[in-house]
Amino acid sequence: ADPKKNPPTGTATVSLTVTVIGTGTMGQGIAQVVATSGHTTRVFDAVDGRAIKAVKGIAEQLEKLVAKGKITHDLRAATLNRLSAGTSARDACAGADVVIEAVPEDMKLKLEVLQPVLEVLAPKALVATNTSSLSITELGARLGVPDRTVGLHFFNPPPVMELVEVVRGLSTSEETISRSLDFVRGLGKTPIVVRDVPGFATSRLGVILGAEAMRMLEMGVASATDIDRGMELGYRHPMGPLKLTDLVGLDVRLAILEHLQREIGEQFRPPAILRAMVRAGKLGKKSGEGFYKWV
Ligand code: CAA
Repeated sequence: ADPKKNPPTGTATVSLTVTVIGTGTMGQGIAQVVATSGHTTRVFDAVDGRAIKAVKGIAEQLEKLVAKGKITHDLRAATLNRLSAGTSARDACAGADVVIEAVPEDMKLKLEVLQPVLEVLAPKALVATNTSSLSITELGARLGVPDRTVGLHFFNPPPVMELVEVVRGLSTSEETISRSLDFVRGLGKTPIVVRDVPGFATSRLGVILGAEAMRMLEMGVASATDIDRGMELGYRHPMGPLKLTDLVGLDVRLAILEHLQREIGEQFRPPAILRAMVRAGKLGKKSGEGFYKWV
């Protein structure tokens, strides 16, 4: 379906309190979707000032949607009323019905972020992670709440992309899956339920295409623009694999590839060019340069 033809907001039937931890590209976008759909939404980021910046960023995005006639002034105002930045993770999570973690792809970091807030959440709260490849089973087991831990994998840019992968860990309960499906539908997104295997259903295919495009670039098969154009015009992908890597973040793609190489095999070995560019700080759109210049 064409995202342009779809309304940018969902309408939740039950209004929950939802905390998003981590306000990078994904965290900010997820918080925008959650708040617009009618939930009380709090954001928190361990880096000082970033949560407030995310709230401002969402306010600007909503202003653009008002200008385009996609949402009303009233919805923007109501959304901003429902949205706040927490001063600490525990403060932001107090009494929350759902916590969604969107910090970098590192199991240790995810545990460090989630473990201390578990006791302040509402009883039976959903503990969700936006990870695109790490194990939900492991996260749930190590947190000690395996039945309530679930993957809610959003896509970039979250306000536009319609899919959310709902990832079921080995011990994720049926009730958690059913509450997750209701939550995702209330956000105006379409869920698919996926078993907890490395890379789930989408990252596994998505990153292999990106990695192969990088290897082709290394071999001089064609320019970045022409490799992308090939998939855009020849396969009708909305965006070629290298441009998409710039959008997702080269560091994010590298972390996923390293994980999938360990878990699945050598076909996921990160291309040398990707490592070199990440070391050089060329992380894609967010840093101003990746396979393309974004200024
Ligand atoms: N935030 C909010 N809205 C955005 C946006 C953003 N970052 N980027 C684009 N949009 C909106 C635009 O405002 C525009 O809205 P209107 O129709 O209301 O004007 C709409 O999206 C279309 O944008 P454009 O006309 O500028 O450009 P486009 O038609 O090329 O669409 C795109 C942009 C939606 C990003 C499209 O190129 C696309 O679908 N690309 C592929 C994205 C994709 O594959 N994402 C998945 C990445 S993998 C991932 O996220 C998983 C992971 O774990 C790594």
